[in-house]
Amino acid sequence: MENPLIMSDSSGLYVVVLAGGISHERDVSLRSGRRVADALAAAGHRVVLRDPDAGLLPFLASERPDAVFPALHGSSGEDGSLLDLLRALGIATVGSTGSAARRAWSKPVASSLVAGAGLSVPESIVLSHEAFRELGAASVLRVVREALEGDLVVKPGSGGSAQGVTIVDDPDDLPRAMVEAFTYDEVAIVERRVFGTEIAVAVVDTGDGPRALTPVEIEPTHGVYGFQARYNAGETTFYAPSRLGDDVATALSDAAVLAHRTLGLRDLSRVDFVVDGEGTPWFLEANVIPGLTETSLVPLAIEASGTDAPTVYGSLVRAAAARAS
Ligand SMILES: Nc1ncnc2c1ncn2[C@@H]1O[C@H](COP(=O)(O)OP(=O)(O)O)[C@@H](O)[C@H]1O
Ligand SMILES: [Mg+2]
Repeated sequence: MENPLIMSDSSGLYVVVLAGGISHERDVSLRSGRRVADALAAAGHRVVLRDPDAGLLPFLASERPDAVFPALHGSSGEDGSLLDLLRALGIATVGSTGSAARRAWSKPVASSLVAGAGLSVPESIVLSHEAFRELGAASVLRVVREALEGDLVVKPGSGGSAQGVTIVDDPDDLPRAMVEAFTYDEVAIVERRVFGTEIAVAVVDTGDGPRALTPVEIEPTHGVYGFQARYNAGETTFYAPSRLGDDVATALSDAAVLAHRTLGLRDLSRVDFVVDGEGTPWFLEANVIPGLTETSLVPLAIEASGTDAPTVYGSLVRAAAARAS
């Protein structure tokens, strides 16, 4: 990928937007990065869009930008590695620290911390690939099926964009779902499926504490909010505000801010829930570098909250740069 200089404006900050990488979510990240770079350029900043590669760390060490905006979904970005390195270099970075990112990146860790803070989290069994092999798939899955009745969701212990996620409504599909999840991660989660309305809540903190933006309701055209539904316009209908009413919206906003705080997240996150028929939000996961593409939820929540991407990303960059000095 080329690293074009998108815009030059001496009044703004010098920001490097990181996008691409070698994770399973490379293409999504490239789309997010372009949108962020455009928004920051529109806010008057000097922006360089950069793919992380072997030249990145020397580049940052010599360029010393005012801030880095990582738009790297999946490993290297969301697993905290690069965030630790940026801190070691003393470069201001938008978003969570490496250690907070790791808490959110591991879905089992995030779920247990958030459950400990009082939020509803679907009952689950977490299995390492090694234990699965050692104890034998057949006997492990027998115990799983008896403990978790009804429809299940099987997913990798970390990752995003619904890759490796299978909804299991026929127990015979469980072994295949496990194999699929293990192709993405050493750990797989088997979780009780929550029926209800899927909602994503963006949390933004531009210096005055974390605030939830308008919760966004997700209605996939074909039933499941999978990879296709996420990145093809028209595959999903979004409602912002959601159709669930003000009380549920308030409960969701409170739950999202509580999850963000409990995991020690910073600046920006997106917390995903399913709201059941009683109006209870069930926590699914928190994303420290949420999708920022043209069909993503956070840009939609920003618009629905009466602001715009240049304003929000610009504030985040200014806050990060101020933190460093
Ligand atoms: N326990 C669950 N109940 C119902 N649907 C779920 C559950 N867990 C995951 N899903 C569905 O699978 C999708 C992906 O799961 P999620 O945990 O959010 O992983 P990802 O990081 O890939 O987005 C969700 O958007 C939701 O549609
Ligand atoms: Mg999700």
